[in-house]
Amino acid sequence: MKILTVIGSISKNSINKNLFELIKPLAPSDFEFSTFDISQIPYFSQDSEVNPPEAVVNFRKQIAGSDAVLFITPEYNRFIPGVLKNAIDWASRPYGKGAWVGKPAAVLGASPGPIGAFGAQMQLKELLSFLNMKVMWQPEICFNYSAYVKDGVLEESSGKYFAKYFNSFKEHIEKNK
Ligand SMILES: Cc1cc2nc3c(=O)[nH]c(=O)nc-3n(C[C@H](O)[C@H](O)[C@H](O)COP(=O)(O)O)c2cc1C
Repeated sequence: MKILTVIGSISKNSINKNLFELIKPLAPSDFEFSTFDISQIPYFSQDSEVNPPEAVVNFRKQIAGSDAVLFITPEYNRFIPGVLKNAIDWASRPYGKGAWVGKPAAVLGASPGPIGAFGAQMQLKELLSFLNMKVMWQPEICFNYSAYVKDGVLEESSGKYFAKYFNSFKEHIEKNK
């Protein structure tokens, strides 16, 4: 199963990027992950949606070639970061030709504290549902990074949750392909 992972942070030391590296080994063995660096994508303008920049063409190709998309997002002021919304908007256009339509999707998110990007995750699931992605709403993990990653190592109890989460995602993809 080809899983495109889109991380909603472009920070070098992103905890959401780190989280992805920590949980990747917990996924089913038939998950083949790829990522796309959304920092390459310029600001969206409707002037260019018919002939988009190369980075957007590549992004759309990668979405099309994937069986499902895993989003891992930070929370900025209770919303998703603008860079993530920008990337999602590009791939949703032109109208009627969105790259997201019909793709199974799952959402994760981490904060340094107990909110665990809850607000951003809820909002992102609504957005992806609007785009007619097949969104897995449950199980959900709002991840408190400071509490459960110590010295760069994921606590064992959290590892079990992520393994279960990935198994549910696999079932979700199988049901919705
Ligand atoms: C502009 C801004 C707004 C933020 N708002 C929230 C917030 O609403 N909820 C939250 O849990 N953390 C918030 N944070 C803290 C982020 O969770 C924290 O910076 C986190 O490390 C960002 O994810 P990243 O490391 O993957 O980039 C905010 C940070 C910034 C820079």
